Amino acid sequence: MMAARTIPVERQVCYNVELTIEKAVSIMSIDQLTSTQIVETGPKADSMSQEELIEAINQLRKERNAVILAHNYQIPVIQDIADFTGDSLGLARQAAKTDADVIVFCGVHFMAETAAILCPDKKVLLPDLEAGCSLADTITVEQLREWKKQHPGAVVVAYVNTSAAVKAESDICCTSSNAVEVVQAIPEDQEILFLPDMFLGSYVEKMTGRKMHIWMGECHVHAAIHPDEVQRLAEKHPEAELLIHPECGCSTSAMYEVAAGGLPSNTALLSTGKMIKHVAQSPAETFIVATEVGILHRLQQENPAKRFVPASEHAVCPFMKMITLEKVYRSLKDDIYVIEVDPDTAAKARRAIERMLEIG
Ligand code: 13P
Ligand code: SF4
Repeated sequence: MMAARTIPVERQVCYNVELTIEKAVSIMSIDQLTSTQIVETGPKADSMSQEELIEAINQLRKERNAVILAHNYQIPVIQDIADFTGDSLGLARQAAKTDADVIVFCGVHFMAETAAILCPDKKVLLPDLEAGCSLADTITVEQLREWKKQHPGAVVVAYVNTSAAVKAESDICCTSSNAVEVVQAIPEDQEILFLPDMFLGSYVEKMTGRKMHIWMGECHVHAAIHPDEVQRLAEKHPEAELLIHPECGCSTSAMYEVAAGGLPSNTALLSTGKMIKHVAQSPAETFIVATEVGILHRLQQENPAKRFVPASEHAVCPFMKMITLEKVYRSLKDDIYVIEVDPDTAAKARRAIERMLEIG
């Protein structure tokens, strides 16, 4: 059986954030965000059919030279209308290279903020300001400054699921897709502070053999995917490949279970983007997918003959699901909401993001 998730004692000290959806929404610093006021014009979205909304979005996208970027966890219709659907790294890369004048970001706030940092001359829109991230909210810039004081000279590696202010206090960013490569690029003798996801941090430690100080943050959606659920499904579908996002609560024990033979050897820990690529190349026909369920839409669409079993049907990110067709239409029509980052913070955060993009 897989071991229950335990948090090493030395790491419990800074695990001080109660993660609930309500709390995540309420502590999301709306007043730190710079956005336009809502002034809706023209036909109202709630009086339009889905087909009319899609037509209007397409028209506006052309008129405004806009690009629609969507994360793999977005609702199906948003993934279907997007110009590009991908993981955090893929979306950051698309934003960095686009020649569009407007970027409509169908994802969560830190992703739109990353696009705004990378493209200061473009208009970046997030259709709902409340689309935050419980993981990003586990660390504030004040907490990071305090942590740095305790470890002077340490290199700070920040997952992109962080605010612009936290990125600005960090040396280099990473995503779940390139975290191992980013840490491997840091000289062996350097002390490392890794934030804010403890499960991704443990995975990186295991893959690189490096000991790091890891912030005890977690994503409430992924943390709730427990080892026993995954174990039960692996026993029920012995022929299936097991795909686990490194943010999952089951990821740490899965790594040890694979080594001990308690889980199939074809278990892979992958970012959402790497899951999509992996499935396309794999001869397997069934996959147990341990991440947010939004990714199943694209997996099924691109691999109609394969079967996908969610590790937990309850793994639904409420923030990702806030973006709807109506809001995308309203966003393109009336610039709701423009995401801007203060230029000093943006310049410092850009350094950390660009260092990441140079690595992988
Ligand atoms: P990736 O898409 O980079 O794997 O990240 C997952 C995630 O949780 C984004 O919020
Ligand atoms: Fe944040 Fe978790 Fe939602 Fe990703 S799935 S946006 S990490 S709350």
